[in-house]
Amino acid sequence: MKAFILPSIIAAVAAEQAAWGQCGGSGWTGETTCVVGYTCQVSNEWYSQCVPGNAAPSASTTLETVVASSTAAPVPTKIAAAAISKADGTKFNIDGVTKYYAGTNSYWIGFLTNDNDVDNIMSQLQSSGLKILRVWGFNDVKSIPGSGTVYFQSFSGSTATINTGANGLQRLDVVVKAAEKYGIKLVINFVNNWTDYGGMAAYFSACGINSNEQWYQAAKCQTMYQNYIKSVISRYRTSTAVFAWELANEPRCKGCATSVLTSWIRKTSDYIRSLDSDHMITAGDEGFGLAGDGSYPYQFGEGINWEDNLALPNISFGTFHLYPQSWSVSNSFGNGWVTAHAKICQKLNKPCLFEEYGVTNAADHCPVESEWQKMSLAAKESGMAGDLFWQLGVTIKSTGQQTHNDGHTIYYGSSDWKCLVDNHVKNIG
Ligand SMILES: *[C@@H]1O[C@H](CO)[C@@H](O)[C@H](O)[C@H]1NC(C)=O
Ligand SMILES: *[C@@H]1O[C@H](CO)[C@@H](O)[C@H](O)[C@H]1NC(C)=O
Repeated sequence: MKAFILPSIIAAVAAEQAAWGQCGGSGWTGETTCVVGYTCQVSNEWYSQCVPGNAAPSASTTLETVVASSTAAPVPTKIAAAAISKADGTKFNIDGVTKYYAGTNSYWIGFLTNDNDVDNIMSQLQSSGLKILRVWGFNDVKSIPGSGTVYFQSFSGSTATINTGANGLQRLDVVVKAAEKYGIKLVINFVNNWTDYGGMAAYFSACGINSNEQWYQAAKCQTMYQNYIKSVISRYRTSTAVFAWELANEPRCKGCATSVLTSWIRKTSDYIRSLDSDHMITAGDEGFGLAGDGSYPYQFGEGINWEDNLALPNISFGTFHLYPQSWSVSNSFGNGWVTAHAKICQKLNKPCLFEEYGVTNAADHCPVESEWQKMSLAAKESGMAGDLFWQLGVTIKSTGQQTHNDGHTIYYGSSDWKCLVDNHVKNIG
């Protein structure tokens, strides 16, 4: 287990950054010196970290130079314009090519502990022609798990601590590096509405609230959340693997006025834009709250007004999901659902990403989901930009074990894969 310093030591040296914490980098306004036994090491222009060791005079001089110059100059863009994934009207442009793109979801890839496994999976995605991978950029815990267990942020008392150690964000670094190597583009999100991997609920006690509804509006929760966003973005600000930053997985605010989420999405997307002027930003919601047949998903009861949110200036594209079983609608409901969103994307001239979809009955995977894919692809000239099925399944190379089967999993090399990946990629062309 990496050095987690005792609370008493933190209290004694409150003006110094904790072990493994950030201590510098462009735009950093926090502590620039580290606790005893640690020294502030420059990782890159954007990020310096407290690592074990004693500060050499030359190192602190370097740090001061970096900090001083960054206050004068705006954050430079080290990423070539053509390497930035962007919106091009209602489509996506990736590596200079504007077209419809297919991809998938892997919430778990950043939690794997073997670098070769991650490399192997990215290589499989590349050879399959899947271009976009959505991953969990969060893993929040209320108490520090056993040695080696991966987590990204912990909460204790009234503080949040970001884990930048080997079982922390360094695992996400491996994902980003492998994605760069294989040309895979990542949607990286920052918090979960649900309690899987912590979610907003992991923040509750530390920021003194007790519901998601409060979380969106409580200043202390939002400061912690923005601080987390900043540390993730500062690591990958110039990576060619970033497709988009995503505010949350499936944010909802049940029974709230839709202005609550719209304000939060505006505030957060503006904040992200202030840190990164290059990459796309999206909300990550399920697509509720729009004109349609009046069934549950179209209603506004989960606090979402989809068009209002997509119209926000720093939101680059819209997301929607589709789970007929969870929503008590028929599988064929999906067709109207796709076109209803595409229509709004066309109106606002922003891309629509069909970001998650699944049916629970395994025998339905191919016939039902391939119909949705065809609907979505057919709408590529009228708002649809891409789709990501939920979820990726693989056999982990180092253990020979299959990844989580939640009933929606499509395993690499299976007949479902042929249907939903090989055929779909061929149809896209
Ligand atoms: C997700 O958000 C909705 C609406 O706020 C809420 O009802 C639900 O409980 C949330 N999920 C969790 C696990 O907090
Ligand atoms: C987008 O975010 C930036 C950075 O916070 C902000 O300056 C700008 O006003 C926002 N754009 C619009 C059009 O509101």
